Amino acid sequence: MKDIVDKRKRPLQDLRISVTDRCNFRCTYCMPKELFGKDHVFMPKEHLLSFEEIERLANIFVELGVKKIRLTGGEPLLRKDIDVLINKLTKIDGLNDLGLTTNGIHLVKQAENLKKAGLNRVNISLDALDDTVFKSINDRGVNTSFVLKGIDKAVDVGMEVKINMVVKKGMNDQEILPMAGLFKERGITLRFIEFMDVGQTNGWDFSHVVTKQELFDLLQTEHVLEPIEPAYLGEVAKRYRYKGTNTEVGFITSVSESFCSSCTRGRIAADGHFYNCLFATNGFDLKTLLRSGMDDNELKDKIIGNWERRSDQYSAERTEETVKNRKKIEMSYIGG
Ligand code: GTP
Ligand code: 5AD
Ligand code: SF4
Ligand code: SF4
Repeated sequence: MKDIVDKRKRPLQDLRISVTDRCNFRCTYCMPKELFGKDHVFMPKEHLLSFEEIERLANIFVELGVKKIRLTGGEPLLRKDIDVLINKLTKIDGLNDLGLTTNGIHLVKQAENLKKAGLNRVNISLDALDDTVFKSINDRGVNTSFVLKGIDKAVDVGMEVKINMVVKKGMNDQEILPMAGLFKERGITLRFIEFMDVGQTNGWDFSHVVTKQELFDLLQTEHVLEPIEPAYLGEVAKRYRYKGTNTEVGFITSVSESFCSSCTRGRIAADGHFYNCLFATNGFDLKTLLRSGMDDNELKDKIIGNWERRSDQYSAERTEETVKNRKKIEMSYIGG
């Protein structure tokens, strides 16, 4: 089957699937406690796609050209028996890459089972090494040692590990060099992520963003970096190598250098809505279609039609106006 393309000639190659909107952290830039407190209503179970529904969709998307799938949340390791889903997905012919993005604290318990189920790589979020800073970010009093142990466990069981650090001015900029130093020494890729205006609740302002250029200049005070060519069209991170090593460091520059022109990513939220962009306002309700008794070919046509109508490129068009007035879905719902 010929790959489908959107209005900007971008194929559909990556699929991010959020498996839950719940998280055991309350990162201040993602699920601030005041807004995701005791009264917050999470998705009821019957609204979540079942593993069978996710598997069916994944098969269809792979037939349409998807080569990479990433499981996200909220925190995906809170979804019961996630290893069972992973095992189903690894059996899909034509899927080259399956990843998962996690805050890492359940990896000590779960990494072995996840690896056995066929998961070979994880991206683990860690925004600071200093406990006081980290606790003030996750807002659940969790020490960095829980995440560091999770990282060790994932490495021990043989997974490829990358670390994600969201950098926000005044929150954790003093942690940039210590994080770079530790993960360079450990031979683990660290990616610095520019703080983005996702959702409605994180109080984003451009003055909070530490740009790639600022990060790069700071790193160059202690390290020498060499650029690496992108591995494929639409790679999210700009990658560098520490000179004289095989260790990489990356920058995810949604704010200062958008990568929309090569964006091949679709996203399915845990309730089965498909989104054309991380910053979309409305989704395409796949769950209702799935549960309507449609066969795979009919579903496929709907998915193709939706992708062919896609012209989203939020980061390329970001202005003060869109930041303030565009209604966007929350990160914990769409999964980053
Ligand atoms: P790899 O396959 O390992 O490169 O994963 P990834 O970097 O695509 O996924 P991950 O979940 O680790 O995401 C890292 C950061 O990139 C998160 O902050 C995501 O929100 C952000 N990100 C991923 N895809 C996009 C995108 O299409 N647009 C924007 N603006 N940000 C993205
Ligand atoms: N800007 C940038 N990255 C974010 N993440 C969560 N919220 C934001 C934001 N506003 C990151 C998480 C995780 C990944 C899925 O997205 O820290 O690493
Ligand atoms: Fe933090 Fe990720 Fe949970 Fe959001 S989903 S609160 S970024 S751990
Ligand atoms: Fe893709 Fe939207 Fe991110 Fe641009 S802002 S790279 S279109 S998800």
